[in-house]
Amino acid sequence: MKQVRIGLIGTGYMGKAHAIAFRTVATVFPLSGKLICEMIAEVDAKLAEQKAEEFGFVRSTSDWQELVNDPNIDVVDICAPNHLHKEMALAAIAAGKHVYSEKPLALNADDALEMTLAAEAAGIKTLVGFNYIKNPTVQLTKDIISHGEIGDVVHFRGIFNEDYLADANSVFSWRLKREFSGSGTLSDMGSHIINMAHYLVGPITQVCADLQTVHSQRPMADDTNEMGHVENDDQVHMMVRFANGAIGTLESSRIAWGRKNSLWFEVTGTKGTLIYDQERLSELQLYTVKDTKNHQGFRRILTGPEHPDYANFCVSAGHGLGYNDMKAVEVRDLMEGIVANTPLWPDFRAAYQVNQLCDTAELSHKEARWVSLE
Ligand SMILES: NC(=O)c1ccc[n+]([C@@H]2O[C@H](COP(=O)([O-])OP(=O)(O)OC[C@H]3O[C@@H](n4cnc5c(N)ncnc54)[C@H](O)[C@@H]3O)[C@@H](O)[C@H]2O)c1
Repeated sequence: MKQVRIGLIGTGYMGKAHAIAFRTVATVFPLSGKLICEMIAEVDAKLAEQKAEEFGFVRSTSDWQELVNDPNIDVVDICAPNHLHKEMALAAIAAGKHVYSEKPLALNADDALEMTLAAEAAGIKTLVGFNYIKNPTVQLTKDIISHGEIGDVVHFRGIFNEDYLADANSVFSWRLKREFSGSGTLSDMGSHIINMAHYLVGPITQVCADLQTVHSQRPMADDTNEMGHVENDDQVHMMVRFANGAIGTLESSRIAWGRKNSLWFEVTGTKGTLIYDQERLSELQLYTVKDTKNHQGFRRILTGPEHPDYANFCVSAGHGLGYNDMKAVEVRDLMEGIVANTPLWPDFRAAYQVNQLCDTAELSHKEARWVSLE
């Protein structure tokens, strides 16, 4: 059985989510290869060693370049802050490794394109962590749309709101500086809802956006009473036009009190509507004109073993999956893409298209006008 040896860079929030998926994927899915948790890189040797122990990795290092160039690594998994993705991915590609990267792929579309072209020229596999599309409920949504059950899609309303920075006194972090994060909620959570719109409806051709920073100063973490200057957006709205003629609105906020993981969308077609709420991630609402007039109304579908991938987690319907399960599906895809040499999505090119929309939205806001994507 082919071995796929993982080198994980960064062990914070996402590094742990990836590690959980690496440890569980072979229990959940039949894999054609053997996943080996080989090496971890962190900013210091002690932390790297501690995380390797906790996450079940064989080796650790404080030097990510050592990991990237190690002959016993097949996949470089980038879970470091956004500004490091490009340098790490380009080094991994140059070393002939497959790259699994967290989103957003890069700080801007130019960097994302450079990474995409390098990956395509090297012929390595890439996968980007837009995990929400991996949910069996979202796969069901895609299936219903693809089979024409709601007719032609005419409208997509997509939101991704959270309140993790709603408190004006939340401490300063790398996410608030352009050199480390790029744009704010637009490329952080907005990127997920853009990718979802691309997945369910298709390419976006035009955008008209409004961005706002509500809390422009936040306290530094070091108790010095100093304030840090916030350099990117807290909330964003976009009107969009899709290549297939549908229109839509996309919205994201990191200051929306009460919203914890509110990735929410409504897809309206000529024969019905679908509604999804990530805070109830095993439910899909379907309204179809096929129902007799006196029975029409939104119907709640609970995902179960009849829906692809769900049965691998649980043989009983309606028991519900969780956030980490979507990462397990993502890692299953990564494994099969590499071992069976099948296409992966969203790859670097798909993630570049997300970065491109983010940049275009910022330009639209700056110039207060609709902008077409190149
Ligand atoms: N897909 C999702 O749902 C999702 C959710 C959260 C974050 N993310 C993405 O994951 C990435 C990481 O975010 P996070 O929330 O885990 O951040 P985090 O701050 O919790 O963790 C980042 C980790 O990277 C390490 N790191 C920093 N520089 C490093 C270096 N030079 N070498 C090795 N390790 C280094 C840090 O020490 C830290 O442990 C970001 O790109 C973010 O956008 C994705």
